Amino acid sequence: MSAPVIVLVGPMGVGKSTVGGLLAERLGTGFRDSDADIVATQGRSIADIFVDEGEPRFRELEREAVRRAVAEHRGVLALGGGAVLDDATRELLAGLPVVYLSMEVGEAVKRVGLNVARPLLAVNPRQQWKTLMEARRHHYTDVARVVVPTDDRTPEEVAEAVLDAL
Ligand code: S3P
Repeated sequence: MSAPVIVLVGPMGVGKSTVGGLLAERLGTGFRDSDADIVATQGRSIADIFVDEGEPRFRELEREAVRRAVAEHRGVLALGGGAVLDDATRELLAGLPVVYLSMEVGEAVKRVGLNVARPLLAVNPRQQWKTLMEARRHHYTDVARVVVPTDDRTPEEVAEAVLDAL
């Protein structure tokens, strides 16, 4: 069976793409990212999809992207920060080596802050972060085999910690 060798979940800005790229290099595999897959298949930005069609439609597209990647991709896979909100998406991850890259709220505000390319943070980033983390943390923990904290670590150190943890 073909399945991802590592799946990275965690909040936006935690470094899933950077760490995922490093892990793919280290393991000599490909790297795939659900957001990039959606942008490629839809031919428009994530922000445009949110604005034009709303978050529920985006979650459907995301679920399909994850379904494709789980079926086809034998390498490192990074998921968008909100992918775990969808029940069916979480079910697709059952049995896979899922790693939750975590960070504290203060660290998230520092790293991402107000980033208009990330539509969920467009208003009041600190409060949004707190709310997002509280609503999502248990989903990340539920799907993950291991949790790797990223605060005060470089992407290289995080990649190393992921390999050690699995
Ligand atoms: C989202 C995270 C983003 C992207 C979209 C929604 C979220 O992905 O999928 O803007 O709900 O947290 P990254 O985690 O790769 O930034």
